[in-house]
Amino acid sequence: MITLITNIKELLQVRDTSIAKVSGVEMAVLPTIKNAFLLLQDNLIADFGEMKNLTEIKADKIIDATGKIVLPAWCDSHTHIVYAGNREQEFVDRINGFTYNEIANRGGGILNSAKKLNETSEKEIYEQSKIRLKEIMRLGTGAVEIKSGYGLTVKGELKMLRIIQKLAQNYPITIKATFLGAHAIPLEFKTNRKGYIDSVINEMLPEIAKYKLADFIDVFCETDYFTVAETEQIMKAGIIFGLKPKIHVNQFNSIGGVQAGVKHNALSIDHLELMTTADIEVLKKTATMPVALPSCSYFLSIPYTPAREMITAGLPLALATDYNPGSTPSGNMNFVVATACIKMKMTPEEAINAATLNGAFAMGISATHGSITIGKKANLIITKPISSYYQLPYAFGSNLIDLVFIEGKKIS
Ligand code: NIG
Ligand code: FE
Repeated sequence: MITLITNIKELLQVRDTSIAKVSGVEMAVLPTIKNAFLLLQDNLIADFGEMKNLTEIKADKIIDATGKIVLPAWCDSHTHIVYAGNREQEFVDRINGFTYNEIANRGGGILNSAKKLNETSEKEIYEQSKIRLKEIMRLGTGAVEIKSGYGLTVKGELKMLRIIQKLAQNYPITIKATFLGAHAIPLEFKTNRKGYIDSVINEMLPEIAKYKLADFIDVFCETDYFTVAETEQIMKAGIIFGLKPKIHVNQFNSIGGVQAGVKHNALSIDHLELMTTADIEVLKKTATMPVALPSCSYFLSIPYTPAREMITAGLPLALATDYNPGSTPSGNMNFVVATACIKMKMTPEEAINAATLNGAFAMGISATHGSITIGKKANLIITKPISSYYQLPYAFGSNLIDLVFIEGKKIS
């Protein structure tokens, strides 16, 4: 099946295959082609260029994109979209003055989601989660990472990871799975944290590896959750089972998680709402991608990742949603990009780089996703007619997407 898209007002994020991520000043540059064409063959990008160089092509389908902008589909490298029920009551509790931590300490938060998940059938959770997956595809996400971490039991964690696997089998979107058994200490282990960590390492990990249910290992490294020493222990165990670390660090406190992530060659370190100069320094010249989650900062009213300081220091940055029932009940990458511009003072070019190519890097898939490159996946957003790509973050509340293609398939 050959699809030709013609008269594209501007084709964004046109890259050479050799570029896997962009850092520092490079983030300010978004390579584009004005008045362009794009050729898709089956699930891949086959060719692109200026309209004036378009030779006669026998296409099965032609899409006229006059006035429209085309960009690679978003790469959302951090979500928790497999969950049961919701946490609306905690949302209202926070409006009434309770903090995220106070709610968690009363048995709400992650433990509340874990209770719901363990009480709900695999089939029912699959049904609830697929609605969210379909929603983010329509919003332009073409690759997503999904974490476990609401099971917190051997059965519950395996159940979550099987649901992620089934979603990956049933939908065209690329899905990477992350084992986040170390998301919180369950109530039964409150006085025996070592017992729970032993279960994560000695019971859960071997089963997950045996059934190839995860690509990455994650830990919530934070005061009242997992210490730096525990995080290191769990990352090391994951690495032995072939899982690269992608960890939650510096959401509320800077306790050394960034350094631990870098030491164990984490693919990404995520959240980073609170960054010290030492945290920024240690990330320089490493292969670890820092990931900011601005919708989480927005929803919890906590600080935003200091993107400007990090980019000025020469670091790369990726943007992701963190879609989950507690801290970020939204999987809208368009909102993430807009919020990064509005609240973190990222330029539209930086934000689009962060939400596409750098997001792909944070999932280990930048060879196949995140840019308009011959041979990469035909994952695209075609906008409605717009004046320029500045509209994407500027008109932050409008839906500017006309069509989404994932693996060459039109998403409806
Ligand atoms: O990334 N920070 C830890 N975990 C999730 C939220 C979990 C929850 O509240 O359910 C996050 O924000
Ligand atoms: Fe998260």
